[in-house]
Amino acid sequence: KYSVKELLNQGKFLLNKKVLVEGWIRSFRYSIFITLNDGSTIQNLQIILSTNKLDKIIMKKITIGSSIRVIGIVKKSIGKKQYIELQSLDITIYELVNPKILQKSILQPKRHSFEKLREQAHLRFQTNIFSCIMRIRHHIAFCIHKYFHEHGFFYLHTPIITTSNCEGTGKMFQITTMDLKKNQLIDYTKDFFKCKTYLSVSGQLEAETASLGLGKVYTFGPVFRAENSNTSRHLSEFWMIEPEIAFYHLEENINLAEKFLKFIIRYIVENNMEDLIFLNQCLEKWKKKKKNYLLEKLELILKFPFKKISYTETIKILDQEEKKKNIKFSHPIMWGMDLQSEHEQYLVDKYFKKIPVIIFDYPCSIKAFYMRMNNDGKTVRAMDVLFPEIGEIIGGSQREERYDMLLQRMKDTNIDINKLWWYLDTRRFGSVPHSGFGLGFDRLVQFITGMNNIRDVIPFPRTPNNAEF
Ligand code: 4AD
Ligand code: MG
Repeated sequence: KYSVKELLNQGKFLLNKKVLVEGWIRSFRYSIFITLNDGSTIQNLQIILSTNKLDKIIMKKITIGSSIRVIGIVKKSIGKKQYIELQSLDITIYELVNPKILQKSILQPKRHSFEKLREQAHLRFQTNIFSCIMRIRHHIAFCIHKYFHEHGFFYLHTPIITTSNCEGTGKMFQITTMDLKKNQLIDYTKDFFKCKTYLSVSGQLEAETASLGLGKVYTFGPVFRAENSNTSRHLSEFWMIEPEIAFYHLEENINLAEKFLKFIIRYIVENNMEDLIFLNQCLEKWKKKKKNYLLEKLELILKFPFKKISYTETIKILDQEEKKKNIKFSHPIMWGMDLQSEHEQYLVDKYFKKIPVIIFDYPCSIKAFYMRMNNDGKTVRAMDVLFPEIGEIIGGSQREERYDMLLQRMKDTNIDINKLWWYLDTRRFGSVPHSGFGLGFDRLVQFITGMNNIRDVIPFPRTPNNAEF
């Protein structure tokens, strides 16, 4: 039994051998050809049927999307496209798709909008475009683990159920227990945990405690944001990678982020060319992108060092650009403001011509409580990595490791110390300078695959008004 990918890769060594393959019919023509896909690769396997009676009956019945099993002999292909094809000996049909149902579904072979694909999210995996994105998504996840493993990081599982709000976000998803028989919510004081619990917005605080013993750790898991951000870059449930490293200063953290992102992109360019080429063909046809749009964009990331500028310099640049009348922002530029996506986009896409930018030393007033205060008393050792098209892809910082300073910051920002006592306590048991960051996994997949909407790179997107499937 072989997958289509195995058959096409090992074809030369399997000539005239009898093999079994299973998949879904992508097309059929001239009453003897079937192309079969099983998800293992973007390529289809060509199957040649005989002209005997049984095969003729099968050919009359089959529809696109139907699932079959084929036993056949591997033959050298006469066509130029592929080296081998399969001469069928025996075909079993698992299920025939009713042509009427097919017509209304996204499996009907024609161009469907991404919105339409999303409406049938459960069938998206059978489309070429989405299976491509899912394979790339897998490879990105895989090489992230590979990078950390090869660099001495330990994979840490942080809890999804928490009592704390790491990022100080305005809203969180609260966990409640429901008595399903009585159809009644149970009061949290009598509930399972006897305290208010939420879905975690970040595993950072727990990762910090682990790094202060294991040295280098990383998390890779789902996090939850209840912000009502209905944009093409926000999900309510997304995947985040958070490395945390003891004895790391901000500069080392910045360098790690750059090396890490370049490693991932190089890995995908080297290992996923087939899928990238297919995606590019789709983007050319549907979005009028250039022939080498994806590859050129990815190679630009690899080619140059990322730009590194402080927040204060950033404000100066944006202010000067406005004065020179190169751009007019809808949010006025002033020191202390949070950078909006219009500023980020202008900076990366226009000013730095699509080379990623790392901005550091942000005002403490717009960043989370745990970031290390600079000597100026105004800025913290924060860093954001901005990517072309996407904007912020990484947020990170050097952490405040000094007990008194951290305590003061927690008080100033109204953090409940009774709840986070354990976090503060780590600053009394061999505290050290340490740093880390969070990479938005889905945003990275979005960048690499060139999708406009983050909903099109995650299997089951969770966004405001959408959690059905
Ligand atoms: O900037 P954020 O909120 O940083 C943290 O959570 C830190 N605790 C990370 C750390 O230092 N360990 O989120 C990090 C990244 C963002 O840069 C962005 O790429 C992504 O997570 N992100 C989202 N992705 C999709 N949908 C959302 N709603 C996102 N919010 C943040
Ligand atoms: Mg951020």
